Amino acid sequence: MELTIRPLADEDVSARYELNRVAFGRTQPLSQVEATLSRIADHAGMNWWGVFDERGTLVADAADREQGQWFGGRLVPTSGIAGVAVAPEFRGTGVAQKLLKHMLGAARDRGAVISTLMPSVPGLYRKLGWEQVGAIVDERVVTTALQSVRAVPGVTVRPVTVEDFPVVEEVYRAYARAGNGLMERSGPLFKATLAEVLDEYRMTLVEGPDGAEGYASWKRTDGYGLGAKLIVKDLITLTERALTTLLAQFGSWGTVAPTTEIRLALPDELVWGLPVHLERASTDAWMLRLVDAPAAISARGWPELRATVDLEIVDEVCPWNAGPHRLMVAGGSATLEPGGSGEVVIGSRGLAVLYGGGASTAALRRYDLLYGGDGRTDALLDAAFAGPRPGLLDAF
Ligand SMILES: CC(C)(COP(=O)(O)OP(=O)(O)OC[C@H]1O[C@@H](n2cnc3c(N)ncnc32)[C@H](O)[C@@H]1OP(=O)(O)O)[C@@H](O)C(=O)NCCC(=O)NCCS
Repeated sequence: MELTIRPLADEDVSARYELNRVAFGRTQPLSQVEATLSRIADHAGMNWWGVFDERGTLVADAADREQGQWFGGRLVPTSGIAGVAVAPEFRGTGVAQKLLKHMLGAARDRGAVISTLMPSVPGLYRKLGWEQVGAIVDERVVTTALQSVRAVPGVTVRPVTVEDFPVVEEVYRAYARAGNGLMERSGPLFKATLAEVLDEYRMTLVEGPDGAEGYASWKRTDGYGLGAKLIVKDLITLTERALTTLLAQFGSWGTVAPTTEIRLALPDELVWGLPVHLERASTDAWMLRLVDAPAAISARGWPELRATVDLEIVDEVCPWNAGPHRLMVAGGSATLEPGGSGEVVIGSRGLAVLYGGGASTAALRRYDLLYGGDGRTDALLDAAFAGPRPGLLDAF
């Protein structure tokens, strides 16, 4: 069967709705929503691709989101793959693979250097060179357990108002910049104004003598019975006293919201401020892939060390990344240039795991994701890709 891949246009929005309705279990039939479907141009930052059969029928589609994620203190242009759907009759014949391969080439052409996604079928993406590097995690704690946390002197709390948006943004960005993988929350895909956010969530700002030290966005679920919850969407703190002060605030809900659920980029760090254990409420994996390996290496930030390692990159899906390359790290930057001896052999998945941060070459060796080289090259790669471990708060 001859299949054509092209960007979706306005005439495809009804077919797209129907395909996604079936694939993702939306209940409203097309006839009820057709008049209100938005045009492609209304979705700046989203690039929808479709696969069409010989009759011009849409048989698969997916979106490439123009997003940015922070790695090593720099913002890395990213293709966020979302909404991959294949019509039931066409599944199992390689349509998704074909579409995703095409989208990787297109993402590279538009300047994305890595790609991330949240898989419901990890095997599909793993086969194409993405690998799981992290998870969006919601932790659960009995709210009354937070009552033993005491607010710390030296900071004050107040509700966030619309005027505080730049301050909140800057606190989030300072936090994101220090991590690996966190989303940049600006641009067309993050166009909700603070007023809209404040419609749904209440936000609390913690300030010290020199300015904001953290904030939380949170809401209560209905009622005050045993099932009532405090849902914390963001708990972004730059100091221990800001964290402790916000946890103490959450504790005050113990009588009417017995459970608190907190979304965390780095769950292990929160336990340092807690007197109790956390229990995992949910976890959503995310995967990463290098789209343009040399550009991805140049785009991110690096530790202040000097290292040169010769890599043989194996990447059949993105052949432009493949072959011997020399990784050179120096002065907080790095380059990946064709050439060198290809001493360390690494595939796309291994490279993705290293790029995410906080993984070890020893772990990659155990899964045959890296081989060749020796103790010296392992130590250099471990130091260069040391961390922090990847985190993400925004599902997409
Ligand atoms: C998941 C989906 C997109 C796969 O589309 P497809 O065209 O059938 O996939 P392909 O034929 O290209 O499969 C490629 C590989 O993915 C893996 N794969 C595909 N569907 C899979 C499934 N349901 N479970 C496990 N692995 C699967 C297989 O490894 C397959 O390779 P193989 O056939 O050589 O073993 C399609 O089944 C679908 O639309 N499902 C409903 C919506 C959905 O779950 N989307 C994914 C959102 S992340």
